[in-house]
Amino acid sequence: MSKSKWTKIEEILDGKKTGKTIHIHGWIYRTRSSGNIVFAVIRDVTGILQVTIKKGNLSDKKFDDAKNTLVESSVEVVGIVKEDKRAPGGYELQVTDYNAINFAEPFPIVKDQSPEFLLDKRHLWIRSQKLTSILKIRSTVVGAIHKFFRTNGYYEFDAPVLQPNQCEGGSTLFEVKYYDNKTYLSQTWQLYAEAAIFSLEKIYNMGPTFRAEKSKTSRHLSEFWMAEMEAAWMDLYDVIEVAKDEVKYILKEVITHNKQELNILNKNINKLKKILESDFPTITYTEALEILKEKENMDVKWGKDLRTIEENKLMDHFEIPVVVTHYPIEIMAFYKPRDPDDSKTALCFDMLAPEDYGEIVGGSQRSLDLEDMKKRLKESGENIENYDWYFDLRRYGSVPHAGYGLGVERLVAWICGTDNIKDAIPFPRTILRYKP
Ligand code: 4AD
Ligand code: MG
Repeated sequence: MSKSKWTKIEEILDGKKTGKTIHIHGWIYRTRSSGNIVFAVIRDVTGILQVTIKKGNLSDKKFDDAKNTLVESSVEVVGIVKEDKRAPGGYELQVTDYNAINFAEPFPIVKDQSPEFLLDKRHLWIRSQKLTSILKIRSTVVGAIHKFFRTNGYYEFDAPVLQPNQCEGGSTLFEVKYYDNKTYLSQTWQLYAEAAIFSLEKIYNMGPTFRAEKSKTSRHLSEFWMAEMEAAWMDLYDVIEVAKDEVKYILKEVITHNKQELNILNKNINKLKKILESDFPTITYTEALEILKEKENMDVKWGKDLRTIEENKLMDHFEIPVVVTHYPIEIMAFYKPRDPDDSKTALCFDMLAPEDYGEIVGGSQRSLDLEDMKKRLKESGENIENYDWYFDLRRYGSVPHAGYGLGVERLVAWICGTDNIKDAIPFPRTILRYKP
């Protein structure tokens, strides 16, 4: 295999190239010139490097090119690596040759622009250091999810994206015309996963998930990625442990592989390490209400779902994720079973993240009670004939089983400390935005 002549910037910042002549290629991150000298900073995927171009060290034509390459121009540069304490990263390149590949037009993104403007220019803004760092961490998170399940004996299993049924409530369905019929974009992989556990037993998936969320919040996307698992022979308490292990596994991978990105995002790595070493508490919904009453003097009527404000107030008392179980059955989806020891509640859980990032995981044991599921679906206005295929799963060798879904962007937003979930996905889709 031929060795590339191109050096990555991180190899220069390692100090091993000092005194050597090297070739780099990348984009102009910053540039300024005065008289016979141009100071530019070039970025590639691995970092940024200061380069100094002096008239006389290269042809006049190339020196003029260096003066005229504006921010975001693409360039190839040859030079000698020198140590320089004042340069970012402590090294600079003294340039001997300079090729402009593309002279960029004046870049529309400058300092202090509004979040909406940056979303309009998202195709350009994803080059920023902030988004680049988040996207690298997201890549680690996605890789870690696959690794976690595959090393623990799960098969990857794919469900259709176009589905005839709802699972998480009809009000957030995206309808798609399907020849002469209609279907919906997947709200969850779960119902199909419940069919597959009869042969594969332990399965997982990660894929795009769609919800027509009608409100604007910093936690909801219309298109997001959910990582789900489903397993035969597991109960609520088994899958809660899997979820805790999964989140810790992902955190560990990010801490191991993304120190530079966490630093750019001003994240405290020691705090993340502490989370990794902690036991995530498990409390019930009823205990959560007691904490809100005692510590916050907040009265939440038993039976009401926890809203964002209540989740945030609860999580003010924790620095690590908390699992909340046994929500009221009345507010839960049809497939969540009653707890036989407390029939007002469901065998379900949410994992809440600290620092106001909300629910990062939601899951449950699955109901095996066909008549109860039919009744609850009817009550929510569903045509139960559409679910007959799903009911078959309770007719032919039904087994106890459970599963959950992890919101990839919620987790990435929490790990990266973003203000809004929109920065945890490259091109966010929300009620107000479907472009670019
Ligand atoms: O709690 P949810 O709705 O659970 C389910 O869909 C189950 N069927 C999963 C399962 O048991 N297989 O969604 C799971 C997670 C939530 O905890 C949240 O992290 C994320 O998906 N999520 C969203 N993330 C971003 N934008 C939205 N609109 C989201 N809705 C849910
Ligand atoms: Mg949920």
